[in-house]
Amino acid sequence: MAASPRHIVPQLLLFSVLFFTTTQAVKRAHVYIINDVHPCLNLTVHCKSKHSDLGSQVLAPGNKFEFSFKPNIFGTTLFFCGMSWQYSTLHWFDIYSGHRDRKHCSLCFWKIRKDGPCRLDYETGRFDICYPWKEPKN
Ligand SMILES: *[C@@H]1O[C@H](CO)[C@@H](O)[C@H](O)[C@H]1NC(C)=O
Repeated sequence: MAASPRHIVPQLLLFSVLFFTTTQAVKRAHVYIINDVHPCLNLTVHCKSKHSDLGSQVLAPGNKFEFSFKPNIFGTTLFFCGMSWQYSTLHWFDIYSGHRDRKHCSLCFWKIRKDGPCRLDYETGRFDICYPWKEPKN
């Protein structure tokens, strides 16, 4: 059966409605980075994505830095940060990865510890989803 214009027009309408609802439905994501390194150490955080540089932030113990953005629908949104404290080397971490995080949080809280960042687990109410620092690339 050949497709007639009578069928094509409603299909086009349906596709555009689906396209607009999926693109509009993507909620802004917020990332909160909390300095939990040590009660006496400032944390320096510098986050970037491919298209933006959020600048260098110095967080006193317990303080936080927040930013927000609209993740893309493909899960490829990525923000990475360099982090350091007194006498430490520079540590790297992907603070927001669409593939890893989009199903888990749109308010993503992270406590930064010496061993690596831990994300708030909404099921336990604890910061128990911990990752190691990213290995530096050679
Ligand atoms: C932490 O940062 C503040 C201001 O950014 C500074 O006054 C303070 O001396 C720093 N503390 C340490 C332990 O480096």
